[in-house]
Amino acid sequence: MYLVSLMVVIHLVFDRCVGFQVCHSLGGGTGSGMGTLLISKIREEYPDRMMMTFSVFPSPKVSDTVVEPYNATLSVHQLVENADECIVLDNEALYDICFRTLKLSNPSFGDLNHLTSATMSGVTCCLRFTGQLNSDLRKLAVNLIPFPRLHFFMVGFAPLTSRGSQYSALSVPELTQQMWDAKNMMCAADPRHVSTLLNCIHCVPWKAEH
Ligand SMILES: *[C@@H]1O[C@H](CO)[C@@H](O)[C@H](O)[C@H]1NC(C)=O
Repeated sequence: MYLVSLMVVIHLVFDRCVGFQVCHSLGGGTGSGMGTLLISKIREEYPDRMMMTFSVFPSPKVSDTVVEPYNATLSVHQLVENADECIVLDNEALYDICFRTLKLSNPSFGDLNHLTSATMSGVTCCLRFTGQLNSDLRKLAVNLIPFPRLHFFMVGFAPLTSRGSQYSALSVPELTQQMWDAKNMMCAADPRHVSTLLNCIHCVPWKAEH
């Protein structure tokens, strides 16, 4: 029933869109169950549109409900089949960044969300501003996806600064080195130790006077 009324709204509002961006978490019931059901329904009705998801993966460091890994595993399967691009936001990595790099002794959801929003605005920069590279969801996919099912992106972010602090002046080589560092990845996997193909989007927030 909910799905029918949701699809009515989607037809009304998104009928002329070129793609969809879905933000959801995979640990709970709504984001993983309802979220992926909605994604598969949208794919069915709009097979030619791009589907990008910002998916938050659960971690025992942030919440220790025992069934979260099951919900996440089941929804990853749906994402492999029905999404075109997935940005992996891993609560484990977000927590570690807050704790180790930003030196927050007890990171709140607000702190994790701040990192997530900064990453999301970085990743969508090339879609929101005029430019040559990756200027729409399809071009981004063409550049980053070697095989259709391998569409889970690891995102590196530099420079990482805590809320309220000033950006320090960093050189381009320093920023580049930081972006490729495992400590700056929004998913808790070391890019050097993973043997499968990885995709990387890198975003650098830049102050206007630079
Ligand atoms: C996992 O999904 C089920 C079914 O959608 C839901 O009832 C349950 O609450 C979810 N688990 C957690 C930890 O939220």
